[in-house]
Order: sequence, then C-alpha cells, then structure tokens
Amino acid sequence: MIFLSTVVCFLCVNSLMASETYKAGVLQVQHKELSELPPSIHNAGDTGLDILVLPPLESTANYDEAIDIVSSAAAQAGLYVVAHMYEKARCQLDYESVRSTLVFDRKGAITAVYRKAQNSAANCTVSDSDLVTFATDFGVTFGVLMEEDMMLYDEKHLKGVKNFVMTGDWQAEVSFFNAAKFAPSWSYITNANLVSTSGIYAGKAGLKTGADKLAVAELHKNGDHDAPMVPSVSPSSATFPGEDLRQFVVRPLDLEASSQGYKETVCHRSFCCEFYVKTGAKEKMPESSYSFAAFNGKRPFSVNHNIGTQICLISVTEKPNTFFERVSITANFTKQNSQYPIIQSATVLPTENFKFENGVNGIPHQVTLEMIEAQNIINFGIFGKYATSKLENNNVFEENSTDSTQNEIYDYIFNEDVQEFFDYVWIRLRILIVVVSIYILEMM
Ligand SMILES: *[C@@H]1O[C@H](CO)[C@@H](O)[C@H](O)[C@H]1NC(C)=O
Ligand SMILES: *[C@@H]1O[C@H](CO)[C@@H](O)[C@H](O)[C@H]1NC(C)=O
Ligand SMILES: *[C@@H]1O[C@H](CO)[C@@H](O)[C@H](O)[C@H]1NC(C)=O
Repeated sequence: MIFLSTVVCFLCVNSLMASETYKAGVLQVQHKELSELPPSIHNAGDTGLDILVLPPLESTANYDEAIDIVSSAAAQAGLYVVAHMYEKARCQLDYESVRSTLVFDRKGAITAVYRKAQNSAANCTVSDSDLVTFATDFGVTFGVLMEEDMMLYDEKHLKGVKNFVMTGDWQAEVSFFNAAKFAPSWSYITNANLVSTSGIYAGKAGLKTGADKLAVAELHKNGDHDAPMVPSVSPSSATFPGEDLRQFVVRPLDLEASSQGYKETVCHRSFCCEFYVKTGAKEKMPESSYSFAAFNGKRPFSVNHNIGTQICLISVTEKPNTFFERVSITANFTKQNSQYPIIQSATVLPTENFKFENGVNGIPHQVTLEMIEAQNIINFGIFGKYATSKLENNNVFEENSTDSTQNEIYDYIFNEDVQEFFDYVWIRLRILIVVVSIYILEMM
C-alpha cells in the first residue's frame, strides 16, 4: 500500500513538474519601430519562450500593416505575442484615436483584443467593461491589462486570474501611480504573475528580470511562488529625489526623539497616519531629513478618472543614510483590502524584517506596514484607494478645472499657520468651557 502510494505520488509530482511552469519574455526597450520587430520576435522564439510582450508601438499610420507584420513574425517564431498599437478608427465623418492590445497565438491568429479610446470624448469606441482574457495551449489563462488598469480596477474585476500580460505607456501625474513604480506593489498584493513592459513579476516573489533588452523569466502557472520578497523599487536617477508632497500634510521627523523611539500622528481631512520610528545610534555622517506625510482626497488619473486616495508616507528629500531600528505606519482606511505597500529603497531590504498586515488587531480597515533594521529608505508608506470615479465627458479634469481651486482651499485649511490659529482658538474655548461649567455647578 505504502509502495503504491509512493509510486502514485512520484507520478503525480513528475507530471506536475513537467507542466508546472511557462517561459515569458518582455522586450524592455522604449517604443519600437515596426521594422525592428520581426528580428526581435524571432530571437525570442529561439530562446524557447511561450509568450512575449512587446513594448508599445509608435503611433503608426498603417495599423493593418502592423498587424500583418506582427502576425507573420509570431507564426514564424511559434510563440504568443502581445502588442500594443494605436489605431485611427473611422467614427461618423471623423476619426477616433484608439489604443488596442492585441494577442497573437502561435499560428499568428489574433486570439484577444482589448481596445480603449485614447481620449474621453470618443463617440464610437466603447471600452470593455469586463476583463479581457485568453486561454493558451500551455494551459494558462491570461488577463489582459493596460498600465492604468492596475490602478482603475478592483480585485473583483480580476476574477481570480493568476497570470496577466500588461502593456501601454501611461504617464500618471502622481509618480507612485506609474506602472514601473506601482507594478511591484500590485503584483505583491494581487499575488499574480505579471508579464509587463516594466518587468516580469511573480506575485509576492517579486521582480524576476534584470535590465536585459530581452528579459526572460520562468513562471509558475498557478501563481505559486518561491519565497516572498519585499515589494520595493530601486530608484533610477529619473525617479529621485522623492515625491512631490505639496498636497500632503507634512511633519518633519525629529531625529533627537527618534533615537529613543517615538510616535507621531499626522492627519489630513480626518484620515490619520500613526508613525513610529526608532533610529540607530548616531553615526558620524549627517543624518538625512525625513518627513512624515498624510494625504486624503481625490487625485486626477488617466484621461477621465479621479481616484480617491489615502496615503501615509515617510519620505526623504536627499540621499538617505539613516539607519532605522524600527519603522512602522498604521492607519484606518476607508475601504477594506485596497491598500498597497509603497517602498522605495536604494538597497534590497531583507524579507524577514518586513511586515504588511491588513485587519490588524481584528480592526478590519486597519493596515500596518513595518520594517525592522532598514537602511537607505527613500519612500516608505501605504497607498489606499477608496474610490474610482469616472468623470463625465463635460467634466474632464482640465488644467483650470474647479478642482484645483478646491485643492487650494484645502491646502489653505491645512496650512500650518491656519491650524495654529485654530489650536489657539480651541485652547481659549476650553478655558471658557471650564469656567462656564464651574459656574453652572456652583448654581446647582
Ligand atoms: C462626438 O460627438 C460630439 C457631439 O455629437 C462631437 O462634437 C464630437 O466632435 C464627436 N467626437 C468625435 C471624435 O467624433
Ligand atoms: C483606528 O481605529 C481604532 C479603533 O477604532 C483606534 O483605536 C485607533 O486609534 C485608530 N488608529 C488611527 C491611526 O486612527
Ligand atoms: C488657465 O488660467 C490661466 C490664468 O487664468 C490662463 O492664462 C490659461 O490660459 C488657462 N489655461 C487653460 C488651459 O485654460
């Protein structure tokens, strides 16, 4: 009996081993000329890839020609190819600009199409409201995403799919929201494989590719992974220095106090972030100046969306050199389970010292991010999303829209001087209340 089950087990494991993984690749170059594509696709085919994601193509006058070229290259190389193209689609008497992600199978046939109008005033192109998926001959079903979708869609929309291909070249106003920075956090929280133009991620196991022109990785089909990694982004010169915190409420980190360990609470519009820091023994180098920051409100995103965001952040403005014995952030978010860790660090951080927890102490909306013994931290925080609202066509976020004046008013209210004034009034008021209550008690 034992022998039999051992044999069965062995067979099971063997057959699983045979088909457990697939090989994905990404061409990590900026926009590609159409003529350069076939050699790159053939090259990818030679390395035995199952699926290849191309960088977004230049806006091309000849959409049909682009499809023909990619299709025949995919067929010759015998692999799945994902391409992002721009199309001028006829709309009544005019043309409409459309972004399409097309998936070609090993025979060069189009097996999935995901289209979106490029601007919000499109009349003929309706974006899919459902996740576009396709099945492959290696037994994996993929979801198709454009870069901004990571931010726009909720977990429910992803329907439990464990493998995604993603292309596009979205530039968000808030730098956290850009795919290159957000992909590690998204992939960590979703715990799904992400084959994207900003790298190949294996869920919690993180980035699997380097800076090669053709980045290749072997991924587990069911999204099971190796040991988890801290979902951090290392800064390129383009992304440093840190964040634009003008819309945040900001308090400086007190280095004197932090050598003993101290707590600080920073609030913005009734959303509060509780920070705890303990820095290491004073070094000879001058310590970097960190800030605690909190933000709660709408941020414009993509052509016609607003995203309700809640952000807690510890951020540094110059080269980081502070050693944190312990650093943690806790906050109560409005929406459950829509929070992501934001970690930017100049070095790889050890996983065993990292903690990101949702629903801590049985409080469902409470999220904690903690790191022990961390150095070279540039940004460390939690990003929460509580709403995504689509703006109507006549209400598109423009430079001079009313929202910016609203923001100015909010900024004014949360300006330190104004807050000091309110504090002053409140202290006076308290004295008055005490005096009045004593008076009333005397009367009774
Ligand atoms: C869409 O329709 C509106 C109103 O009919 C028109 O003003 C606009 O030019 C159209 N846009 C395109 C891209 O055809
Ligand atoms: C979060 O909520 C809990 C329970 O309501 C409260 O004790 C805690 O102080 C809150 N934390 C913050 C940072 O507001
Ligand atoms: C925005 O307002 C400024 C000053 O009121 C004006 O100079 C500018 O042209 C406006 N921009 C747009 C896009 O309307």
